[in-house]
Amino acid sequence: MKKNKLFIFLLVIGLFLSSCNDANASKKTAKISKAQEEMNSDTLGFRKGDLADEKVVFTDISYAGKEAGESILYERAFENAPPLISHAIEDMLPITADNNLCLSCHDKAIAGDVGATSLPATHYYDYRNNKSTGDILSDSRFNCTACHVAQSDAKPIVANVFKAEFKDDDLKKKSNLIDVMNEGVDYK
Ligand code: HEC
Ligand code: HEC
Repeated sequence: MKKNKLFIFLLVIGLFLSSCNDANASKKTAKISKAQEEMNSDTLGFRKGDLADEKVVFTDISYAGKEAGESILYERAFENAPPLISHAIEDMLPITADNNLCLSCHDKAIAGDVGATSLPATHYYDYRNNKSTGDILSDSRFNCTACHVAQSDAKPIVANVFKAEFKDDDLKKKSNLIDVMNEGVDYK
């Protein structure tokens, strides 16, 4: 009999505590969903729309769109910045594992003949294993458009007062990253 009473007593306390927890939890969820309502993913980014939707893009941008060989190269944004792609690339995308059209002109063995800028030495270097990849593009450089974007007339969405300083005027038009990669690094 005594044991039964104790059991019921504990049960009542247990139920009471768990209902308190529930009440707290639902208060918390109410707070979170209010915050979510005020700042949902549609308003979080600079491009307005669902962040997870790849089709939402800035619409008021026009890309230079000249064909390769007819376009004007822009100066580098800063020393050894990835240069902007100066020509239309619509017909060259997507880059897939079996097909990378960019290489058909920019591969160092071809570039000179077609008047394209050759891939720099950094793109033929495996930095993870610290060795050259010879004539074969390093895997980490395969997806060109992960780093290079096309020229456009996009207006900055955030004001930018950055001014690039170049050690040498030549570096506004070409890179020398492979030579200066370890500058300032002391291995000792
Ligand atoms: C049909 C040949 C051809 C193909 C294919 C091609 N390019 Fe080019 N690319 C050129 C030429 C030629 C230039 C030199 C400037 C010009 O005339 O447009 C150039 C310039 C560039 C530049 C500017 C280099 C600098 O020094 O400022 C970049 C970056 C670039 N291309 C990247 C790409 C990427 C990325 C792809 C693939 C999506 C690609 N190119 C595909 C021919 C090509
Ligand atoms: C991981 C980022 C990254 C990827 C991927 C990448 N690049 Fe670059 N690229 C750079 C940077 C940074 C530079 C400038 C510094 C240097 O020389 O490495 C550059 C430089 C260049 C230049 C100018 C070379 C010169 O001598 O001035 C060309 C042309 C170029 N890349 C084309 C390509 C093409 C085509 C691909 C794809 C096959 C590609 N890049 C992939 C980051 C990248």
